[in-house]
Amino acid sequence: MPVIDVHSHDVPRGWPDLSEVTGAPGPWPWLRLETERDAMIMVGDREFRRINDRCWNPQVRAADMAADGVDIQVVSPTPVFFSYDRPPTEAAAIARVFNDLALEICAPMPDHLIPFCQVPLQDVDAACTELDRCLAAGHRGVEIGNHVGDRDLDDPGTVEFLQHCASVGAPVFVHPWDMTSSPRISRWMAQWLVGMPAETHLTILAMILGGVFDRVDESLRICFAHGGGSFAFWLGRFDNAWHQRPDVIGVSERPPADYLNRFSVDSVVFEPAALRLLVDTLGADHVMLGSDYPYPLGERPVGNVVRSSDFLSDAERDAILGNNATRFLALDPTSGGHHE
Ligand code: CO
Repeated sequence: MPVIDVHSHDVPRGWPDLSEVTGAPGPWPWLRLETERDAMIMVGDREFRRINDRCWNPQVRAADMAADGVDIQVVSPTPVFFSYDRPPTEAAAIARVFNDLALEICAPMPDHLIPFCQVPLQDVDAACTELDRCLAAGHRGVEIGNHVGDRDLDDPGTVEFLQHCASVGAPVFVHPWDMTSSPRISRWMAQWLVGMPAETHLTILAMILGGVFDRVDESLRICFAHGGGSFAFWLGRFDNAWHQRPDVIGVSERPPADYLNRFSVDSVVFEPAALRLLVDTLGADHVMLGSDYPYPLGERPVGNVVRSSDFLSDAERDAILGNNATRFLALDPTSGGHHE
């Protein structure tokens, strides 16, 4: 059984000037290389995030994977490049740039690095077109941000895109991004520590109450990052509200707990007690190893919490470490990571 990490990110080692790619003025992300191994993602003249060659060098990733006992990484874009707030033609052009560069990063290790693409989610036709192009070119699924401005994933266009993903068999990884900004949540790293889990919680709620799971085909394979945020912890409050306040909340056809078999979450929650809550709430067949590699808020060694959680049976641990992701990615389970 291959050990599969469904939550990692890449950043290419540079990219074309996005003002030329789009024909539109920035501020656009660009990469300020500081050494051969270190760089700063810039947005205009603002420093966004310090990164290193783990983001773009497959050999460096391979060494880390070997050290951590990971056979396969799903490699998703870093959300700062989504560009959902730009006109669709600009976002589509940017998606093409980063999706093609992601293929180059993963190409040297096709059995170990599985690229997921980004799409211009603000426009359903453009998003479907880019997904189809990417699947034909070698991408194996798609990462989407958890919202497009004020539109959550129950937005009709997004639902149509998710239905397209189900139709073509593309797995979907949902990542929080573009967190609410206010002076209170802009201190420390509160946008990441509180904002991201709340974003994901809100999006799962929106998919349930907005009737997305009622409308989209059951074959949709969808996974939420960071253990689904704070969703599992507050499921009881949600279910109680659904029953007690139908005047406010009775939109979905069935109570929230009835939809738990429709999605998965990753395991990057650090504490065995938190992992246990996910397994108890969603079932061990709906939790998949994730790490957020190579970023500092991710888990290293990858899989530490799964391997050290002694409440898991061997079968449950194997499910979380790889067997669930084998199905999520539609890998051939007999070929040790080779795809069909
Ligand atoms: Co991440």
